[in-house]
Amino acid sequence: MRLSVIGCGYLGAVHAAAMASIGHEVVGIDVDARKIDALSKGDAPFFEPGLQEILTDGIRSGRLSFTTDISAAAGAKVHFIGVGTPQQVGAHAADLTYVNAAVDSLLPHLSDGDIVAGKSTVPVGTAAELADRVAASGATLVWNPEFLREGWAVQDTIDPDRLVAGVPAGAEGERAAEVLREVYHPAVAKGTPFIVTDYATAELVKVAANAFLATKISFINAMAEIAEVTGADVTQLADAIGHDARIGRRFLGAGIGFGGGCLPKDIRAFAARAEELGRGESVGFLREVDAINLRRRDRAVQLVIEALGGSVVDKKVAVLGAAFKPHSDDVRDSPALDVAVRLNGLGAKVVVTDPQAIENARRVHPQLNYLTERDEAIRDADAIVLVTEWDEYRRELSPDHASTLTAGRAVVDGRNGLDAAAWRAAGWAYYGMGRP
Ligand code: UGA
Repeated sequence: MRLSVIGCGYLGAVHAAAMASIGHEVVGIDVDARKIDALSKGDAPFFEPGLQEILTDGIRSGRLSFTTDISAAAGAKVHFIGVGTPQQVGAHAADLTYVNAAVDSLLPHLSDGDIVAGKSTVPVGTAAELADRVAASGATLVWNPEFLREGWAVQDTIDPDRLVAGVPAGAEGERAAEVLREVYHPAVAKGTPFIVTDYATAELVKVAANAFLATKISFINAMAEIAEVTGADVTQLADAIGHDARIGRRFLGAGIGFGGGCLPKDIRAFAARAEELGRGESVGFLREVDAINLRRRDRAVQLVIEALGGSVVDKKVAVLGAAFKPHSDDVRDSPALDVAVRLNGLGAKVVVTDPQAIENARRVHPQLNYLTERDEAIRDADAIVLVTEWDEYRRELSPDHASTLTAGRAVVDGRNGLDAAAWRAAGWAYYGMGRP
């Protein structure tokens, strides 16, 4: 099937390449000429495992192309909208400028019977507002939210755990859902749940899922705060409650909390939208979820101060990690980088290392020192702070090896990823998040 994908960021670039990899003919369109240039040459503009391969294969096969020219969308049967919906400057609501611009620029190139499939995360009610404009061009709007995780984006796109399509009522909606089933044919063939619903439900599924995940993380981080004043160990607590299948252990990782381009902005936009709808109190807890999350960054900084005897001034602190999570080079709202910035602001001599995210981190925070080599970063450090749980730090850095390089023996484990007993046995003062 011929497809167009408008917006070639984390979501759109992966979607375009993944759709080509399952046999479609895809054109990716973006207003950013540099991004399109890179993608056209087969260069993944960000680090995402597996993307480089499907990008190269797609371009080589002739099924995948990229352009800044929106008229190239003409002739495609389905047009995916995958542009960003960032937080508004100075407010919590989502900024829909790019969604509106993408749809408006697409309208003149639509033909009767085309489908416009919104993938961007939008406030509930957006699709209903856009639907008439799309219908006036003879096309049908569907809302087809995306649940991919960075680091697993290729796999999540090709083989998702569920597909959701918000469609208009009646035969037009049924036909549109049928076309989407064809688009996602390998997943549909293997029996992946395919939920056909209305626009509002589809939009809400997305934000509800992210709100739930954020709440789960903040729940365990709230338990970490209680553990800190009672001497309990939140990691054992999480293991114990996680054995209850109704609760589950995933997303109960206490630490410096969630960041990234999705969870933080999505819960804020959801709360803002609920206020607009007169139901602010229904998701008022999300403000608490946000507050708990941000407090954990303070806590990590506090632990470093404690570990260094009350002041970080002129102390060398090696910060392991800059990305908001491992297997990603994304530093948007990264708690890791935030901790590094705060320590730097307090007068520490901060050195940040990360296997993938240094370039992006340097762009946002050029005031920090960056070193690519982990061992160089920890050399002569007074304290080590683990803030992104890459295997290079969590599994592959032994306390004995670290001891041969550092000046001090203090380690703050912002992700509760290290073997506390092993570090203590090697003579280190170990500080976890919500652990004695
Ligand atoms: C999230 C959702 O997981 C995806 O389902 C969704 O599609 C995506 O947002 C989106 O809306 O596009 P992502 O932002 O890639 O995906 O990252 P997550 O894996 O959800 O992690 C988010 C943050 O939570 C990271 O900073 C991570 O370190 C943190 N986290 C995660 C914890 O602090 N503890 C945990 O137990 C799990």
